Amino acid sequence: MSANIMDGKAVARSIREGLKEEVEGLKKKGIHPGLAVVLVGENPASMVYVKNKGEACRSAGIYSEEHKLPEEMKEADLLRLIDQLNKDPRIHGILVQLPLPAHINKERVLASVSPEKDVDGFHEINMGRLLIGQEGLVPCTPLGIMKLLEHYHIPVEGRFAVVVGRSNIVGKPVAMMLLQRNATVTICHTRTKNMGEVCRMADILIAAAGRPGMITADMIREGAVVIDVGINRLDTGKLAGDVDFESASKRAGWITPVPGGVGPMTIAMLLYNTVKAAKMATGSNP
Ligand code: GUN
Repeated sequence: MSANIMDGKAVARSIREGLKEEVEGLKKKGIHPGLAVVLVGENPASMVYVKNKGEACRSAGIYSEEHKLPEEMKEADLLRLIDQLNKDPRIHGILVQLPLPAHINKERVLASVSPEKDVDGFHEINMGRLLIGQEGLVPCTPLGIMKLLEHYHIPVEGRFAVVVGRSNIVGKPVAMMLLQRNATVTICHTRTKNMGEVCRMADILIAAAGRPGMITADMIREGAVVIDVGINRLDTGKLAGDVDFESASKRAGWITPVPGGVGPMTIAMLLYNTVKAAKMATGSNP
């Protein structure tokens, strides 16, 4: 059997086209959604992400500004900038690109972003809202995964979902979203015993461990839905997911490729959250 491909690139494109139309409508009402992206230092991967995020905004008609700051900057100065952005009426979304330099306290910085402008959904208030099932801004990659499942009409309720990885950015929030949709959810991590056995029980398997090729075909139940969140740059320069696509695609029922799966959905959801934040700020239809 060969798995059906979940084409994140195509789904993201159609979401972005829909958002572009929505932004045009908002502008006619005098609302111009705006995103500020903050980058500290010169991490090459982060620089590419920030550039892509800015371009994606512009192509959807969203105002965007990039704040590129030196690696050695003081945390107090970063907090001051975020405070200004919190107060700036042109800005509805603020994204602080991670990782931050070691001398800057990530938790303090993320908590300084206004929860209403927290388009990454990383603020403790938004994380808490997600945990208790309250409306709020939620992290982009997990939201993109849920939108992909929805797009392909993949049922979630009552199904056994296994999430491999317990990061605050992906593993934990996606587990909460799956639970909210009435899946039975298990989270695996580096200390999990019999990982293969647990994964083989999954109807829906989310690989978000950041370890290239760690999910092999023998860990996948025949016909399972396999979502690969990994974006690992190999020494050869090639991108590889956490799933060994070659073998896994022969057993899975549905699978996301890398690249072209979850990655493009993340950016589409950043735009979605920015538009949502702009609507929330202006009391426009929620
Ligand atoms: N670094 C890696 N992924 C992300 C993300 O989703 N948001 C931010 N702000 N930084 C990241």
